[in-house]
Amino acid sequence: MGEVIDLLQAWRKKIDSALEAYLPREEKSIYEAMHYAVFSGGKRYRPLLLFSAGHYFRAAEEELLPVACAVEFIHNYSLIHDDLPAMDNDDFRRGQPSLHRAFGEALALLAGDALLTLSFQVVAEAPFPAERETVKVDIIRWLSRAAGVEGMIGGQIQDLYFSVQAESEPAFLEMIKKKTGNLIIFSVMAGGILGGASEEEKQILYSFGEKLGYAFQLRDDLFDLGQDEQASSSREDSPNFTLTFGQERTRYLITRYLDDALGVLKEGGINSRELIYLAEMLRLEN
Ligand code: IPE
Ligand code: IPE
Ligand code: MG
Ligand code: MG
Ligand code: MG
Repeated sequence: MGEVIDLLQAWRKKIDSALEAYLPREEKSIYEAMHYAVFSGGKRYRPLLLFSAGHYFRAAEEELLPVACAVEFIHNYSLIHDDLPAMDNDDFRRGQPSLHRAFGEALALLAGDALLTLSFQVVAEAPFPAERETVKVDIIRWLSRAAGVEGMIGGQIQDLYFSVQAESEPAFLEMIKKKTGNLIIFSVMAGGILGGASEEEKQILYSFGEKLGYAFQLRDDLFDLGQDEQASSSREDSPNFTLTFGQERTRYLITRYLDDALGVLKEGGINSRELIYLAEMLRLEN
């Protein structure tokens, strides 16, 4: 286990250095706001999933790194916009003032837009060998779908207009899959795509990522509920699975989705210690 942790830690450092290199340290510029958002203590869960899957399929690190940064940029843009008064209206993120509280709403909008745009620039400009340009286009297609109306944005729209009274558990889970599952699925799949995984293996990665995504957001909802809300003015009607369906059901589903995710990997013969570790990390006892 120590080896796995050391490897993930080493990847994390590489990912952080690469993220840093894309964001020049310029004061009084939009980069300052982008930097604040990206370097305020994120766990880098998605880039680590991407590295883990990519490493398993022996993808080239020069290809993994820009794509890992791209997904982390999109994730951070989604959080900046998610916190805005027009959305969840959260004053704090990762224990610090959220971006619009620190830099104002206009800069928060633009820093989010800039991170989204940068993510596609980074992939487009990534140094892939000429014969692998079609793989790059494939990645861009998957990333745009995961982030767009079919994916994260579509989920955020459903979240905004969600009627807690009227909607069922399956509708709730569908919203979760869109807003959170898609970027997680992308991260796992992209590692496989870059490493030349077969169609069957990609299907397994998809299914693993899908189940992980549910567990991830359910865990976030469970812990959000335990948070001291005083410091923040969170949107009152923000849908929270635990608030609607209770702690017991949330805990049960988290365990079930994690068991399913690990089962899918095992049955599919994908014995990645790092992917297993990243799933086990979400266990409630951790
Ligand atoms: C928070 O994601 C938003 C959700 C999708 C639940 P993370 O928990 O990955 O956020 P950071 O980047 O580590 O802060
Ligand atoms: C965030 O969901 C999902 C996104 C796609 C941004 P939440 O609104 O629950 O995330 P937190 O709790 O603000 O991190
Ligand atoms: Mg939200
Ligand atoms: Mg939120
Ligand atoms: Mg939350």
